Amino acid sequence: MEFYEAVNKRRSVRDFTGEAIPEDALMRIIGAAYKAPANDHFTDWHFVIVRDKEVMRRVLGGVPQDLTVRDVDDMTFISDPVQKESYQIAVPKQYRMLIAAAAVIIPLMKRKVDILHPSDLSDLNCYASVWCSIENLWLAAASEGYGCNLRIPRGREESIAQSVLGFPDEYLIPCFIGIGRPSPDAVLTRRIPVDLKTQIHWNKF
Ligand SMILES: Cc1cc2nc3c(=O)[nH]c(=O)nc-3n(C[C@H](O)[C@H](O)[C@H](O)COP(=O)(O)O)c2cc1C
Repeated sequence: MEFYEAVNKRRSVRDFTGEAIPEDALMRIIGAAYKAPANDHFTDWHFVIVRDKEVMRRVLGGVPQDLTVRDVDDMTFISDPVQKESYQIAVPKQYRMLIAAAAVIIPLMKRKVDILHPSDLSDLNCYASVWCSIENLWLAAASEGYGCNLRIPRGREESIAQSVLGFPDEYLIPCFIGIGRPSPDAVLTRRIPVDLKTQIHWNKF
């Protein structure tokens, strides 16, 4: 698949067919994650792939299962009708989009600094780098005909996943990634249009 086709095809997919993903496809997709730029040259991320439904259930034990469209009304930061519609589609699916995926991929990054209390923007470089790898992974999945979604763990979601997966304390989960074959009737959110002419500046803001 041509690069821009993969970029355009990459969307958050929260509805899957249930088809399994072969191991070699997962290896290629995660291989692409390691081609991402990295701040300190280490690319020392790990990826745990969970395909066993029972392990998935336990890993996702902290993800809320009872969210509804009504929870979106409490999100006071929402300022746009398309944004609101997107949350109304995504919020009720937070658990389902992961448990119904063919696999849940859990990236792990080393906590080299206290990223919750950075003293300088560069303290966040390791976090920025792992996100570059996640975007590569997501684009590679799109180019293989698979779709991904992601959820940022909140509250005890990370510690519950850690207790199941057994990774050392020095690692942090930036997000859970659900991956699978998009269902033909997968609901994609509308994107807020961007006008490049007003967003891109030449020589001067
Ligand atoms: C940093 C980050 C955090 C996100 N967190 C979530 C999340 O917790 N749950 C979710 O369903 N989608 C999450 N998303 C996906 C966005 O909702 C999605 O990318 C956005 O609505 C644009 O839609 P698209 O990916 O289909 O183009 C996140 C995306 C990013 C980049």
